[in-house]
Amino acid sequence: MNDSELRTGEVAVDLPRQTDAALYFIGTIRTPWKTRQECPKRGSPDGPICSIVLDERWRQGLTGIAGHKRIQVLYWMNRARRDLVLQTPFQRPTRGTFALRSPVRPNPIASSLVDLVSVEGATLQVRGLDCLDGTPLLDLKPEHGAHEGA
Ligand SMILES: C[S@@+](CC[C@H](N)C(=O)[O-])C[C@H]1O[C@@H](n2cnc3c(N)ncnc32)[C@H](O)[C@@H]1O
Repeated sequence: MNDSELRTGEVAVDLPRQTDAALYFIGTIRTPWKTRQECPKRGSPDGPICSIVLDERWRQGLTGIAGHKRIQVLYWMNRARRDLVLQTPFQRPTRGTFALRSPVRPNPIASSLVDLVSVEGATLQVRGLDCLDGTPLLDLKPEHGAHEGA
């Protein structure tokens, strides 16, 4: 679907003229999926191994992460439009953006709790992602409460 096309029931709004904050992309996610059609709607622990390639600058920030079985990954859905307030997902009723986990949202931040398979240098291998190859990485956090002192 072309981004300018709206499905039945969908409503787009004008975006604010300027943003309120800036963020840093801290790495890139490598997955087998090049198109939205082939990409799973939701990651699964049975899914393929994907790589999270952290920029070298942030590598020390991984200290201690290998001790965690699961980590929260936050990523930026860089190919999603940002102006819809009502959306009609395929074969589902129209809902408000904040009642959906769609990548289409004012700040297209996605999150997944993934299984950590390995850490080598600045690259993590994980299972459970659902994003396109090349999706920018925003943050990594251990699973809440999974580690003493977390
Ligand atoms: C429904 S979202 C769920 C994302 C995340 N697990 C969450 O709950 O926040 C996953 C879908 O977003 C779409 N998607 C994946 N990577 C994207 C990207 N870089 N830009 C735009 N859309 C993307 C694909 O259609 C994929 O099936």
